[in-house]
This record gives sequence, C-alpha cells and structure tokens, in this order.
Amino acid sequence: MLVKNSSFQKQEVEFFNAEKARNDFPILQQKMHNKPLVYLDNSATSQKPRVVIDALTTYFQESNANIHRGVYKLSEQATRAYEQAHEKVARFIGALPEEVIFTKGTTEGLNLLAYSLSQQLKKGDEIVLTQMEHHSNLVPWQQMAKRGGFVVKFIPLTNDFRLDMDAARALITSKTKIVSVTHISNVLGTINPVQDIAALAHKHGALCVVDGAQSIPHIPINVKELDCDFFACSGHKMYGPTGIGFLYGKKELLECMQPFLYGGDMIAEVGFDDSTWNELPWKFEAGTPPIAEGITLGTAVDYVTMLGMEHIKLYEDGVTAYALDALKKIKGLHLYGPESVQQRIGVISFTIEGMHPHDVATLLDREGIAVRGGHHCAMPLMSVLGVAGTTRISLACYNTREEIDKVVEAIKKAQKVFGVC
Ligand code: ALA
Repeated sequence: MLVKNSSFQKQEVEFFNAEKARNDFPILQQKMHNKPLVYLDNSATSQKPRVVIDALTTYFQESNANIHRGVYKLSEQATRAYEQAHEKVARFIGALPEEVIFTKGTTEGLNLLAYSLSQQLKKGDEIVLTQMEHHSNLVPWQQMAKRGGFVVKFIPLTNDFRLDMDAARALITSKTKIVSVTHISNVLGTINPVQDIAALAHKHGALCVVDGAQSIPHIPINVKELDCDFFACSGHKMYGPTGIGFLYGKKELLECMQPFLYGGDMIAEVGFDDSTWNELPWKFEAGTPPIAEGITLGTAVDYVTMLGMEHIKLYEDGVTAYALDALKKIKGLHLYGPESVQQRIGVISFTIEGMHPHDVATLLDREGIAVRGGHHCAMPLMSVLGVAGTTRISLACYNTREEIDKVVEAIKKAQKVFGVC
C-alpha cells in the first residue's frame, strides 16, 4: 500500500499491507456497540494474530509437559521449544540466548533488577530516573531507595516533551549507580536517546536499565547497539500472549547478580545449609515457567519478523503523522508529545477543553473505538504536565488512516454532546 500523507509521499511502503495484516487478527473483525471495532489501546495491550492464538492451542494439544525435568520425549520436545523461544528472542534483539530471561512481563523484569541490583548499592548512592516513567520503572526503585537509603533523582522534560539532556548531564555523576529510563513514553510517545544515556551512565561507572515496554512492538531493537546493560519488556504488547515478557542483561552482569526468585530449576546444588545457582538464564527462572506463553512469544517474534520491524515502523510513522495532523485541527484539543515522527511513535495523548479524559474515552467507546483515558500509570508525569489525565490513542501495525478519521468524527460528536465546540 502507499503512504499518502505529505511528509511520507516519498516513502512508498509497498512492502507493508496493513489491510492484509489486519486480517490476521480475528478479534478485529467484530463489532462493538454495533460499530466496527476500532482498537486503539495498543500501548495497554495489542491484539493477537491467529498464528499466536493457534500456537497456544497447539502447544497444549500436542506438546504440553514440564521442562528441564522429564527424560521422556514429550518433555524433551517442550524443553527444546522453550529454549528455542529464548534463541528467537535473543536473535530478535541482538543478544545471546543466555542473556534472555523470561519473566511475567516488564514489571517483573524491572522489579528483578531493582531487587537484585540494589543489593550492590550503599546508603547515599544515587539512582537516576526520568519524569516520564511508568509506575513500573519508578515504584520499585523508589521503594528500594527507601529501604537502602539511596537517593532517587529525575531527569526533567523540555517544553517539547523530550528529556532535558543538559539536565541529564548535570544529574548523572560519579554518585550515580543506576540510570533507569523508559525507551518510549507510554503517555507522550517520545523516543528517548537511550544510547546517549547509556554512554553517559557508563562514563560515570553507572549501569543503564531500559524499560522497553513501548519500544519493542514498534521499532527495531538491537541491545548491543544501544549498549544498555539491561532491557525489560512484555510479550503482550508485541502481539504475544499475556503473562510472558523478557529481560535482557549483559552476561557478565547477570553472572554477578543474586537471583530474584528462589525455587526449583534455578539451582545447581541444594544442601540443608546452602545452595548454588544454575547457569544463565535459568538462574533467574525459578519454578515452572510460563512454558506455553514463552513458546508462543517465540511465535509472536516470528510474526513481527515476517512483517519486518522496519516496515512496521515506517507504516506506523505514516499513520501517526496523519493522526497528529488531523487531531491538531480539532478546536479545543491539546496534544502532549513531540510534533515530529522522528522523535516519537503513535502513542498520542490529548485533552479536550471542558471534558474529562474518561468521558472522552466513554463516548468514543459508544462509537466502537477503544482508547484509554486517565493517568496511564504515570501519575508523577501527569503532575508535570499539569493535568489529571489524558485520553490516549495508541497505534499498532493494523490501524489505518480510515480509523483515525473515525476517531476525529467521534471526538467532534463527543464535543457536541458536551456542548464544548
Ligand atoms: N503500561 C500499559 C499502558 O500504558 C498498561 O497502558
């Protein structure tokens, strides 16, 4: 298909067909309130293609057994498939398989790091975050800091909703031990310069953690190029199932860290008095892991690899630019986030004068349009923006310009209902 809007006229994306991709997602064929479903809450969770749905069923019908325990063929098959899923994820992000730990999701990955890394910190050490963090990359560090007497500092925003890198250079010093930053804001859509932040952290001997929850579904990721020390994300936002995500960590760092969860499979030897740990990544995967979900995450990786992350990015940039252009023409609507698609993705937050974000989301729902309204698990950011909440549309590869037109119409209709236009 061709990307038509002005800034993208030269980029004819003949290799990505959103309508074809759309047909892969059975849920998108249904109606809500008698209107075709327009699903625009992909930052919360994406929909699942049929191959992912089928992979879950097939696993339970044909391959279900516990892993790393049985000597029988079924268990060996399940073990191999689960390990292959680690290998697929590793290839997808440019890591080694032993550097990929399967977790429940981004939140668990970040809690693992906060818990395990804070054991290496001492009172007065500093942790630098940003003002645009999701609660999952703020609360774990905040709570560890309270326990250990660490100091948490926040990189502020510029007026155009980006990170203030001058402030970052002043905040990150030899006292800083950890810099943990979201790759892409789940509210503003801002793409942060994590490569520069990692370099800055390393210059001062600090570690750099990246929350990749919103970047992994939308832009190609190579952790070695970013040179971050850790990268945490979720599977369910990248067309995979819920209950599974992964944490990348540099091998030499993971080797020195204490496990987060203790139990079966993460041990080498257990005695009554002490234990030793399994090799990576299993040292960090205690108990029976989410086997079906892990294998199916591998299928989701196959799916996006087949579509091509570069193609997804280019296509979504076109729809994002179209949406920004259309939304900014609506009277009384205020956008929060960078203007250029060079600096952002299609996570688009806005407020409408005279309307609460929840009311906007409710009225859009009546038109079959699913969006999120509220603080988006980023309450400190809301106070920086000076709002109680925003309404947010967030795109995936199956969203179209026609759907954006429907959003614009629905917003204008909602404004009429509230008498604010
Ligand atoms: N983190 C998810 C969101 O932004 C749930 O909606």
